[in-house]
Amino acid sequence: MNILLTGATGFIGSRLARRLLVAGHRVTALIRPAGDRWRIRDIEPSLSVLEGDLCTPLTLRGLLVSIRPDLLIHLAWGGQLGAPAIDNLTALGSSLELLRLMPDIGCPRVMIAGTCFEYDQSEGELDEESPARPHDLYGACKHALFLAASHFAELAKIDLIWPRLFYVYGPGEDPRRLVPSVVLALLRDRPAPTTQGEQVRDYLHVDDVADALVAIVGKGCSGAINVASGSTVTVAQVATLIGRLLEKPELIRLGALPYREGEPMVIRAGTRRLREEVGWNPRFDLVGGLTDTIGWWKTRIPAA
Ligand SMILES: NC(=O)c1ccc[n+]([C@@H]2O[C@H](COP(=O)([O-])OP(=O)(O)OC[C@H]3O[C@@H](n4cnc5c(N)ncnc54)[C@H](OP(=O)(O)O)[C@@H]3O)[C@@H](O)[C@H]2O)c1
Repeated sequence: MNILLTGATGFIGSRLARRLLVAGHRVTALIRPAGDRWRIRDIEPSLSVLEGDLCTPLTLRGLLVSIRPDLLIHLAWGGQLGAPAIDNLTALGSSLELLRLMPDIGCPRVMIAGTCFEYDQSEGELDEESPARPHDLYGACKHALFLAASHFAELAKIDLIWPRLFYVYGPGEDPRRLVPSVVLALLRDRPAPTTQGEQVRDYLHVDDVADALVAIVGKGCSGAINVASGSTVTVAQVATLIGRLLEKPELIRLGALPYREGEPMVIRAGTRRLREEVGWNPRFDLVGGLTDTIGWWKTRIPAA
């Protein structure tokens, strides 16, 4: 397939780009001219790179019109970790502009990354039919995009695939997130402060996420579909396991940080669609996934 990919320089996009190339697809990556390409340096020659910014829709139309992709995979999103929350509004606006270009450039299928933060997280197990009740601007903008994209897709006769990602970890993750922050602290022989760690989460290795997205496309599914492992683990278990794998359990400091205000305590993913309709199961268990991630970080810190 001829695939147009946004967010290819990001954590998930860079791994998905690799996976798509291996599967034999032609990948056109829309990348900001000033974007940092460190995650895709090795595969850049195999990608067809289009330099452009989603926030300039007029220029974008001119750039995209010659591509005629079979599928758009839209992962780009500003407004995440460390960015001002207001950037979510910009990401929502630019995503809508991108979407509206799809009929003009003859693109019949669109996959856009959704999130578990669209759901009402007080609901227990979250499946695709669970009620939406985003509790922050990120979740609200993602869900607003889902609603608008669903109606637009029907109108424009476009097929919309909306994978809802839960917690993703693995090589290349932002070092401020839980897994890399603990791994990096321990590799540097420093204490790793965490919360008490009672939060229940569903973690999936980034290569499994990429693999699941490719499987969903291959199966021809549409609509919302949870992308998660289907297993839960507490934050304390994740941190403790990293301590054990690196043989430095004494550096894990559970309870050194307070919980974030309003932090949901239990996020459990229903994965029936992914398992039964797509027939997909993860390759990594948590031990394997964390071992792989630690190995990757060791190559980034040669002294460790
Ligand atoms: N990571 C998770 O655990 C998780 C969970 C649920 C959902 N998701 C969703 O999955 C998607 C990918 O997440 P991620 O963790 O891979 O994000 P990420 O590492 O922050 O990457 C974001 C990507 O978006 C690009 N981007 C941002 N603004 C842009 C613009 N105006 N024009 C063009 N590109 C732009 C960035 O390009 P630059 O390199 O130029 O900045 C980067 O490639 C996002 O939609 C996110 O909401 C992620």
